Amino acid sequence: MLYELIKLLHLIAAMLWMGGMAFMLFALRPAAIATLEPQPRARLMEQVWRRFFALVLGAVVLLFGTGSHLYTAAYKAAGGSVPLGWQVMLVLGLAMFAIFGHIYVAGFRKFRRALAGAQWPQAAAAAGQIQKLVWLNFVLGWLAIAAVRLLA
Ligand code: HEM
Repeated sequence: MLYELIKLLHLIAAMLWMGGMAFMLFALRPAAIATLEPQPRARLMEQVWRRFFALVLGAVVLLFGTGSHLYTAAYKAAGGSVPLGWQVMLVLGLAMFAIFGHIYVAGFRKFRRALAGAQWPQAAAAAGQIQKLVWLNFVLGWLAIAAVRLLA
């Protein structure tokens, strides 16, 4: 029962992160590019990312805490072995956390600095970098989920 509750929390955190990335990549950013000039668009994205990245930080903490509990509980129960898919999820999950750290520290900070200094080309370059790395995390997230479901 406790295991199932922890797994539910793990799922909630994964859905918030994955769903947020899908919304950003497929709806928000294309809509902002279609309707807004670069300056109001950059200001909008700064407000959006500030809120979304705070949510992602919470999701990362929750995913890591719950994921490592699920992993070690089952590892002990199975006498020291876990399915390959779980190992793949662990590795891809850690990669996603590191990439998120890079998005925040390298991409988002650079973006904010550029915005504060009204350096629009630099802001656009940093936004492009954030967009690319979010794509990468989105793909890795689905690979991790496919691995945990499909690899024995
Ligand atoms: C260090 C990071 C992570 C670890 C150690 C970890 C560990 C695990 C484990 C052991 C399970 C299997 C539980 C079971 O079937 O009983 C699981 C399931 C799952 N994980 Fe992770 N995870 C991590 C990161 C992530 C990330 C980053 C995502 C998605 C963005 C994610 C999404 C899921 C989902 C959706 C399931 C449920 C699959 C199902 O229905 O069986 N996990 N995780």
